[in-house]
Amino acid sequence: MKIVILTGAGISAESGLGTFRDAGGLWEKYPLEQVATPEGFAANPALVHEFYNARRAQAAAAKPNAAHLALARLERTYPGEVLLVTQNVDDLHERGGSQTVWHMHGALNRATCAACGHKWPAPMQMQATDPCPACQAPATRPDIVWFGETPHFMNAIAQKLATCDLFVSIGTSGTVYPAAGFVHEAKRHRADTLELNLESSRAFDETRAGKATDIVPDWVNSLL
Ligand code: OAD
Repeated sequence: MKIVILTGAGISAESGLGTFRDAGGLWEKYPLEQVATPEGFAANPALVHEFYNARRAQAAAAKPNAAHLALARLERTYPGEVLLVTQNVDDLHERGGSQTVWHMHGALNRATCAACGHKWPAPMQMQATDPCPACQAPATRPDIVWFGETPHFMNAIAQKLATCDLFVSIGTSGTVYPAAGFVHEAKRHRADTLELNLESSRAFDETRAGKATDIVPDWVNSLL
């Protein structure tokens, strides 16, 4: 069986990283337009770097939880094909042992140059005037996909959704497109669909409700 898994902020919640839209979530404290759009970055790059510097430090201090570990175990031992796509910009899947992770919304631990597109490992603290190591332009930004920008791996993900047998969504509210449309893509191609989340979005054939650290290891155990 070929499985495509999509994860969101809910899988990292029990590692202490805040989600976006739950009560007290990140977008309540920091207006999304100011810190997660190209326009916000143009208006106040220092504020945007401050936001992502803080999130980078928080992610570095967090530890992968039982759900991250279970998905890594699935990748290692499942006899079929497993693809892990994440909307998360933390590296807890990798630190939990996952080898291949498609970060469709970018990664906190990478920097990119707004002038030439070069990418490099992000230092813990960045600012907009840091020179690009390739072209020297003072145009450093976090390698994060902001609203209005195109997520990474879109063509490759579409191909995988078209040929998978099972699509599993974990810890995501399903409100941000294009990721929110993956379940419909998978269904169109006759895959089974499963949601593992605190609450049901009703878009899936089956939903298992609960905390990621309980329900993800249970699901992985049921498969292996
Ligand atoms: P959200 O904050 O929108 O949704 C988090 C989901 O996780 C909700 O459905 C919660 O019910 C669920 N959840 C919370 N705690 C959980 C737990 N312990 N176990 C299981 N589920 C839990 O986060 P995302 O869906 O990831 O994009 O948000 C999608 C995108 O919107 C993000 O990648 C980010 C944001 O704007 C960018 O910044 C580009």
